[in-house]
Amino acid sequence: MAVRTLDGLDVRGKRVLVRADLNVPVRDGKISDLTRIERLLPTIRELMANGAKVIVCSHFDRPKGRRVKEMSLAPMAAALGEVLGRPVHFADDCIGVQAQQVIERLSPGDVAVLENTRFHAGEETNDAAMAGELAKLADIFVNDAFSAAHRAHASTEGVAHLLPSYAGRLMQAELEALEAALGTPERPLMAVVGGSKVSTKLALLGNLVGRVDILVIGGAMANTFLAAAGVSVGKSLQEAEMHDTAREIVARAKAAGCEIVLPVDAVTAVEFRPHASTRIVDVDSIPDDAMILDVGPRSAQALVDRLANVRTLVWNGPLGAFETPPFDAATTLLAVGVASATANGHLRSVAGGGDTVSALRHAGVLDQLTYVSSAGGAFLEWLEGKTLPGVAALMT
Ligand code: 3PG
Repeated sequence: MAVRTLDGLDVRGKRVLVRADLNVPVRDGKISDLTRIERLLPTIRELMANGAKVIVCSHFDRPKGRRVKEMSLAPMAAALGEVLGRPVHFADDCIGVQAQQVIERLSPGDVAVLENTRFHAGEETNDAAMAGELAKLADIFVNDAFSAAHRAHASTEGVAHLLPSYAGRLMQAELEALEAALGTPERPLMAVVGGSKVSTKLALLGNLVGRVDILVIGGAMANTFLAAAGVSVGKSLQEAEMHDTAREIVARAKAAGCEIVLPVDAVTAVEFRPHASTRIVDVDSIPDDAMILDVGPRSAQALVDRLANVRTLVWNGPLGAFETPPFDAATTLLAVGVASATANGHLRSVAGGGDTVSALRHAGVLDQLTYVSSAGGAFLEWLEGKTLPGVAALMT
């Protein structure tokens, strides 16, 4: 993976269009998590310090080619100004006269944010005219939105072919961390994949069995694998139509020398609600009226113990229904174990995906892994082994 980076790039006095991902979580009209904005700072500060006129563009949410007031990037521009500690200009449109007028007034070192790219239908269709309009605004394109790089849109892919294009520092950091984890990892390499559905993670599991040494399957997905192996899982969430697929994945793993690890015990409950009364049972003794809601303590501890011999870990998806205590226990135990193995210096740990980030935050270890990706869908597609169009456009 060799992308062009900002190293040695002369941006003095130049207009630099930075594709950011300002698609941040918003609750009751307020930005509830600034992580994606904060992670842009290295690129923006470097460009400002080197005398560029910095023009930030991004999508937010899914307005589907229409102007939707609630999906304006104005609050994100204000938040960027706050974390930068200086005013940021805002253009009411991402292309055309409004954008041009704001950009013409910028001095070297200034920053402007353009309105939501998805207010134009041409963004998602990767329309050549839309990409051309964006390219007119700048001399250089910098893509710092790894988390949107799985989308071949005008502002992530199209424009990259029309201007000299480079990876920003966040994009570079994401790619380096992911390459070190799956491209050229120190082995043994273990992947932990949780979540609810095999069907949504099929491509990912298919790719991982050929690349990792140990594949740990958790979450409701594990129920499908257990049921496919003939285990009675009671009323647990599972996908009966995926049993053949699960068996195929197990067979492919065996052929590839990849060990699949499923839970041997489980935390079960008759009702799924916070602080429901629970029973811990072996997976071959799940009561007919109960559901598996978390990996059991023996299985979770066994995972933590295994970390002593693992050199690289890739994690996507929680082990249980972690948002509803006490079904957060296994995920939290593993998260703390991963953080401590990482601190000991023998484990490189990389995690990503919205739920995984929430689970790590919940466990209080979000900043204690080697790298936590800010991407959701892009992280999954990367785990599937796909080339992301927004990254491909930056390759040397
Ligand atoms: C994300 O949050 O994963 C990215 O910003 C992509 O958003 P999208 O799924 O709406 O394209």
